[in-house]
Amino acid sequence: MKHLIDPTDLTLSEIDDILTLAEDIIKNKEAYAHVADGKKLATLFYEPSTRTRLSFEAAMLELGGSVLGFSTADSSSTAKGESVADTARTVSKYADVIAMRHPKEGAPLVAAMNADIPVINAGDGGHLHPTQTLTDLLTIKEETGKLSDLTIGFCGDLKFGRTVHSLIKQLSRYENIRFILISPAELRIPDYIKDEVLDAKGADYTEVERMEDVMPELDILYMTRVQKERFFNEADYIRLKDSYILDPEKLVHAKESLKILHPLPRVNEISVKVDADPRALYFKQAEYGKIVRKALIMKLLGLSL
Ligand code: CP
Repeated sequence: MKHLIDPTDLTLSEIDDILTLAEDIIKNKEAYAHVADGKKLATLFYEPSTRTRLSFEAAMLELGGSVLGFSTADSSSTAKGESVADTARTVSKYADVIAMRHPKEGAPLVAAMNADIPVINAGDGGHLHPTQTLTDLLTIKEETGKLSDLTIGFCGDLKFGRTVHSLIKQLSRYENIRFILISPAELRIPDYIKDEVLDAKGADYTEVERMEDVMPELDILYMTRVQKERFFNEADYIRLKDSYILDPEKLVHAKESLKILHPLPRVNEISVKVDADPRALYFKQAEYGKIVRKALIMKLLGLSL
């Protein structure tokens, strides 16, 4: 039995298998319509979500399986004081796989240590979001044809953005990836990501504050929302929330081949005027999320055609 708590729980070969399967699901959707007949996915969401929860549920339904779960902690026995460990132990009796989102870093790991079925981390606090990383990898691979030799700019809240931490952790395993980290000083990437991932892997990275200065160099621009829910002080959030607003003027000097990604939800950081630009891929990225989650569910449950 395998869990997915951290993107590096999967070997590069296992990730390659998941992306290859996702590509086949794109081409032959109908062939997979009954591959998970009789299987159940439990979505245990202690924190709000639109894309992750609904794409997991749509993925399982499109594979022929069923879904159960809760979308807020207060609609579960957590409100009565039940622990994550006991919840995971109990849900193991009702489902075949769990997808869990939790505001506390490490909660899905605790669930995995107590469950009898695979547990998928669907986002834990400001830590990691491995299935968003699989989504981002599938998007990058489908839209650029490669997962190496790329310059990627991460822009916005690099301190609290778990999607950024996860994707940097994963992309640093590929060849010749150059990272440009664009953030205000207060929202820089945490030191542990620099020390344990970027420096440890000898990755090529620079930290800058102005998006415009680096725009012409980028193959991928990964925009992020300032994570209001992780701030201790509302005044700091208000001061920093509009640090970056991507608009058509800022894209004037960008490559024609640039790919603009965003894990979503968006607040103000990408003007809606950018949505019509063919380089804006964030809604397509959300669709890739459902497809790659189908492939992941199949792999974790040992399902094949
Ligand atoms: N990208 C992402 O995690 O979106 P949700 O918070 O809507 O699930």
